[in-house]
Amino acid sequence: MKIAVLPGDGIGTEIVAEAVKVLNVLGLPLEMETALVGGAAYEAHGHPLPESTLKLAKDADAILFGAVGDWKYDKLDRPLRPEQAILGLRKNLGLFANFRPAICYEQLVGASSLKPELISGLDILIIRELTGDIYFGQPRGRRIASDGHFPGVEEAFDTMRYSKPEIERIAHVAFQAARKRKAMGKEGRVTSVDKANVLETFQFWKDVVTEVGQQYPDVALDHMYVDNAAMQLVKEPKRFDVVVTGNMFGDILSDEASMLTGSIGMLPSASLNANNQGLYEPSHGSAPDIAGKGIANPLATILSAAMMLRFSLNQEEAAQRIEAAVQKVLAQGLRTADIYSEGTTRASTCEMGDAVVKAL
Ligand code: IPM
Ligand code: MG
Repeated sequence: MKIAVLPGDGIGTEIVAEAVKVLNVLGLPLEMETALVGGAAYEAHGHPLPESTLKLAKDADAILFGAVGDWKYDKLDRPLRPEQAILGLRKNLGLFANFRPAICYEQLVGASSLKPELISGLDILIIRELTGDIYFGQPRGRRIASDGHFPGVEEAFDTMRYSKPEIERIAHVAFQAARKRKAMGKEGRVTSVDKANVLETFQFWKDVVTEVGQQYPDVALDHMYVDNAAMQLVKEPKRFDVVVTGNMFGDILSDEASMLTGSIGMLPSASLNANNQGLYEPSHGSAPDIAGKGIANPLATILSAAMMLRFSLNQEEAAQRIEAAVQKVLAQGLRTADIYSEGTTRASTCEMGDAVVKAL
């Protein structure tokens, strides 16, 4: 099983090192190869996603990704910025289905900024479309406009766009995920999040999701405007089961959902293409402000490795072993700074990884 390991920038290298440690003790025939990506690749090769890194990723069964980005690159031309590496990987590999579960671990109920009763037992799944929408729509750019109300004024524009097949395939992913959850005793309902009251793109989204939903009579479907969804997520998060939405709304709502669980440092994610080839990364970013201090939480990346074993490598048992080991370490009271509370034991990034290895 070939894994491309792309640690990236900031805390990326620290947290990926811990996940690799964990993967190495499973006794599986994993072939891991590491390459530079993001700002690190820009420094070494002048490009955030060098050909060699892209090729390694394409040839792998799965990609374990850390994080990219640093404020120091904000002045670079957009195609050279670290973020283009992850966007380029998503687009080039066709990783259109992004799974961002928000699960509240019982031991961390107190770490959330919400009241415990609102989030205890929370287990929702955000499915974000990842290769379309305003992120990739053309045309986009900046120009001096010579018509309209403000002649000669500089303006910038992006295009929000979805094709029917793009919406259909992500809708199928959501309905199938809800069906699986139902079989596991969960509610099995899809909430499609849109802005159909204002945007043509999202009226279309709503229509197509509704149409696909007719093929899944066993799965309930409801629709919600994105502003209301943002509110409901903090008001009554447990009302959701599977949420499906476009690229940009999914970006925003998944950050919001992650904080319900106490820390974004706990949440893994998977981005899959039609062949189940996948990129696995923590939901959080490169956090340059805490990079190199050994305080980042490696659990989101370790749990991403578990998702990788489950979805792309067909190793359900190993995935469950990792998840159980993480639970065990939390039950022992070990906490990195982001989830620390009184009465628990502070652990560094490395100590947390070691503890998971030991639990395994
Ligand atoms: C994410 C990130 C990325 C995104 C950035 C780094 C391009 O915020 O994965 O959520 O906007 O998709
Ligand atoms: Mg984001």
